[in-house]
Amino acid sequence: MNRLSGVRMRSLRKTVLLSILVSVVLVLALIHTWPTRAYTTIEVWQRPGLVLDRNLEDRLLEPDPQLSTIPFHVRESVAGLLARNGCVCESEGVTLPILQILKSRVSAQSLNKAFQASELEELKKRRDKEFKSFQKRLQTPGDMLIIAEANNPLQYPTQGVETRPLKTILIPGLALQDHPRDHYSINLTATMGTLNVAAEVDGVKIQGDGEMRMTLSSSHLGKLNRQLQFVTYTNTLFHPNTADTVHFETEGHQANFIIKIRHGLTPKLYNTGTEGEYNISALVTIATKTFLRYDKLQNLIDSVRKYYPTVTIIIADDSQNPKSISGPHIEHYIMPSGKGWFAGRNLAISQVTTKYVLWVDDDFIFTSKTKVEKLVDVLEKTTLDLVGGAVQEVTRYTATFRQTISIEPGEADGDCLHIRKGFHHVIQGFPNCVVTDGVINFFLARTDKVQQVGFDPRLNRVAHLEFFIDGLGTLHVGSCDDVIVSHASKIKFPWASASESDKAYAKFRYQPASSDSLHSNFGLFYFKNRFQCFTRGISRIF
Ligand SMILES: *[C@@H]1O[C@H](CO)[C@@H](O)[C@H](O)[C@H]1NC(C)=O
Ligand SMILES: *[C@@H]1O[C@H](CO)[C@@H](O)[C@H](O)[C@H]1NC(C)=O
Repeated sequence: MNRLSGVRMRSLRKTVLLSILVSVVLVLALIHTWPTRAYTTIEVWQRPGLVLDRNLEDRLLEPDPQLSTIPFHVRESVAGLLARNGCVCESEGVTLPILQILKSRVSAQSLNKAFQASELEELKKRRDKEFKSFQKRLQTPGDMLIIAEANNPLQYPTQGVETRPLKTILIPGLALQDHPRDHYSINLTATMGTLNVAAEVDGVKIQGDGEMRMTLSSSHLGKLNRQLQFVTYTNTLFHPNTADTVHFETEGHQANFIIKIRHGLTPKLYNTGTEGEYNISALVTIATKTFLRYDKLQNLIDSVRKYYPTVTIIIADDSQNPKSISGPHIEHYIMPSGKGWFAGRNLAISQVTTKYVLWVDDDFIFTSKTKVEKLVDVLEKTTLDLVGGAVQEVTRYTATFRQTISIEPGEADGDCLHIRKGFHHVIQGFPNCVVTDGVINFFLARTDKVQQVGFDPRLNRVAHLEFFIDGLGTLHVGSCDDVIVSHASKIKFPWASASESDKAYAKFRYQPASSDSLHSNFGLFYFKNRFQCFTRGISRIF
């Protein structure tokens, strides 16, 4: 290598090194001046707006010396309605007059009895841990308390502003209504996106456009307000189902509002056939779960076929030695033996492709009073998701098993679950139908809503209301007593006259009181639903 090329080589190396250095510096500078957009990692946990919380708390909790001296009288009848600090597990009704005791006596069960004292402490800790992460997933800044202060010159949208993830919107309704001044200035600050203007107004100074904090100022209020009409928000942090809290301030005043960030809801629509009368075969699938009782099941199928010859029937079967059930429009799913009641329901509803699913027990019988059209009509014309019918017992009355369910918030020990016989109100236009929270084992439901709630497969023996408890807040439930299915047989005591399959079935389904199954449901109430207490009316237990 000669000397000249050596020098060239060195100077080339120098240039390369220099340019690398320059680009590193440039990149660093860029990152530094652009901190608002460089998300390398995103913490996907929900973060409640801590800063704002503190602001609000300070202002709300500041004792106002003027107010604290003004006397007041507590109105007991109303104050008593406010939630206590945590529900208490106690039986009610003891102090009521005798007639009312008969109507509304209540039994209360402490659910931690499902566990040994030695394991309870550890279990409670684990439940707390799961509950905390559940809450974190659930909360969004959109749930935050925001107060609009009096005489605030800032005008802004209090709710209803929404953007799809990573999209841009105009923020509607921003304005300043201030007293005459020499100079007007506002700041807007976002935390999950950037602010900008879709148009510029002469005489308005814009700073920080394209960043998370933008300042607009002008000596002319009208021009500033015109400019505020063009303010845009662009979501830059991809985290759907959250909300950005935008801080809006001018000298001496501040306000916060929420921009929701979410995808639109993608619909799940079902083709229900041509116009005209309800085509039950196109609209409804009948689902049932069977276990050993093939004679009963065949009677059910025969009775359905009398009235609905082409409706699809889905059967989930966890019998030990499954028999074949075949026929047109029948789907028979065989499961591992003894998988259980809710697992079977879950499998059956997972296979439904029609808009509605009609749940029946395998020992029901369709009659001329089993007008599925009526239940379809209720769901088509109301906002209900699920509507129960009535079950005619062979020797007894018809039962609708209407139950109201409420959950009273508690503190560290968990919430209280209250179940009472009854309903909330009659449905206008359907005099035989009411709104309630839980119904009998004979119901028509929107398929997607039932699939959303699901039947917890851990509930394998006696379980029913558990589904409605899981569905509280998701399912809008009704009950009509003019659509009636017959119950072939409730197993009678003693089981002397029962057939062999009935006896085998009874061994599994009915167990002595205080059996394991009830106990295991209490355990699920305690851990899964985080209840501490379960109360229900004791006038009639199913
Ligand atoms: C806007 O923000 C800047 C920077 O934090 C601050 O100096 C200024 O006082 C704010 N202006 C208003 C009107 O609040
Ligand atoms: C009702 O729906 C079924 C299944 O989709 C279809 O085969 C049948 O032709 C429909 N009947 C009428 C009258 O539209």
